[in-house]
Amino acid sequence: MLFLQLVGLVVLLPGGDSEDDSQEPVAFQVILTSSLYNRSSTRNQGSAWLDELQTHGWDSKTGAFIFLWPWSTGNLSNEELIIAERSFYSNTIQLPLCFHNYSSDWQLEYPFQVQVTLGCELHFGEPSVGFVRLAYQGEDLISFQNKSWWPSPKGGSRAQQVCRQVNELDHDDNELTHELITGYCPRFVLSLLDAGKADLQRQVRPEAWLCTGPSPRSGHLRLACHISGFYPKPVWVTWMRGEQEQQGTQRGDVLPHADGTWYLQVSLDVKAKEAAGLSCWVRHSSLGGQDMVLHWEQPPFMGLVFLVVIMPLVLLAGLAWWLWKRWKAHWRPQCTDFPSEQDPSSPGPRTDLNPAQR
Ligand SMILES: *[C@@H]1O[C@H](CO)[C@@H](O)[C@H](O)[C@H]1NC(C)=O
Ligand SMILES: *[C@@H]1O[C@H](CO)[C@@H](O)[C@H](O)[C@H]1NC(C)=O
Ligand SMILES: *[C@@H]1O[C@H](CO)[C@@H](O)[C@H](O)[C@H]1NC(C)=O
Ligand SMILES: *[C@@H]1O[C@H](CO)[C@@H](O)[C@H](O)[C@H]1NC(C)=O
Repeated sequence: MLFLQLVGLVVLLPGGDSEDDSQEPVAFQVILTSSLYNRSSTRNQGSAWLDELQTHGWDSKTGAFIFLWPWSTGNLSNEELIIAERSFYSNTIQLPLCFHNYSSDWQLEYPFQVQVTLGCELHFGEPSVGFVRLAYQGEDLISFQNKSWWPSPKGGSRAQQVCRQVNELDHDDNELTHELITGYCPRFVLSLLDAGKADLQRQVRPEAWLCTGPSPRSGHLRLACHISGFYPKPVWVTWMRGEQEQQGTQRGDVLPHADGTWYLQVSLDVKAKEAAGLSCWVRHSSLGGQDMVLHWEQPPFMGLVFLVVIMPLVLLAGLAWWLWKRWKAHWRPQCTDFPSEQDPSSPGPRTDLNPAQR
């Protein structure tokens, strides 16, 4: 059981410098997942992501994009949006059809899943890179480079066959795809970055707290440092003793909250006696160059538990006993005065206890 306790004393100490993330590469990708159940039944799901922030959903029935942020349209005009929606919709119809058509040639067995990831990566100061990747059952199959499709090294003979036949399908399509990922995509992403500046460059301070739980090793404690609700994603967290980083620090995955902020847990197994003096350090761009430091404090000693919990119980029990004695003492005389006890018609206790004395 997790023994939850907030023992953190948050002290802001100088140290660490906030990094400027504006030069980090940014990736925009559209993900389409087609589940092909049988020859006549297909389900498509689409979404678009700016790094790890979802920007668009997709209604597979109407083919309309769902704009998840006010700035998700970028600087596209309504006309351009309609064209984009139509082309995305017709592509999503084409792709599964193509896999249905070739299911026997490519030895595909129903049900199966095909995933297409398409987009571009912007490296500031360098040319951007466009990509399209296609996966079958979660494994890379083919990818698009230099205006044509290439088999994935791990895709085997199926990948080579799919590649050959997809390249033969339509050369105009390949030209269009190339233009889409190398020309149109980077321009759209730049406009998204500009329109969404306020949300994308926001800084949200984390909340942090410490917990302790049982460790699989006997005599050890697991100290956990929880950091929650921060944005953007890069964060540095570690357990320290004084100024010394602790080697056994275990970092969990950075997990998303529904509001787009992030959560991380960083834990450390220590001998129970050595927990004192440890602290969890958090460095994040929202903290203005000052690390957040949470000091571990020993949970209350058994003696303290005794004083705080057991002593009042003992006192209460003592009081109850005393009251009971008093009540009994008070009641007894009334009871012994009661005449029926000496009633000769009823057998007295003495005769019952010692019938031999009669
Ligand atoms: C195809 O799969 C769908 C969904 O699983 C099912 O409802 C339908 O009956 C299947 N059709 C055939 C011909 O097997
Ligand atoms: C799939 O096959 C049908 C009928 O054979 C054909 O009309 C259609 O163009 C093919 N589609 C693709 C994407 O190959
Ligand atoms: C694509 O073209 C570039 C430049 O022409 C070349 O450096 C690169 O190797 C090519 N990639 C493939 C997979 O052929
Ligand atoms: C949208 O923004 C991009 C990047 O700033 C720019 O290159 C493009 O011309 C803009 N398009 C329109 C229609 O304004």
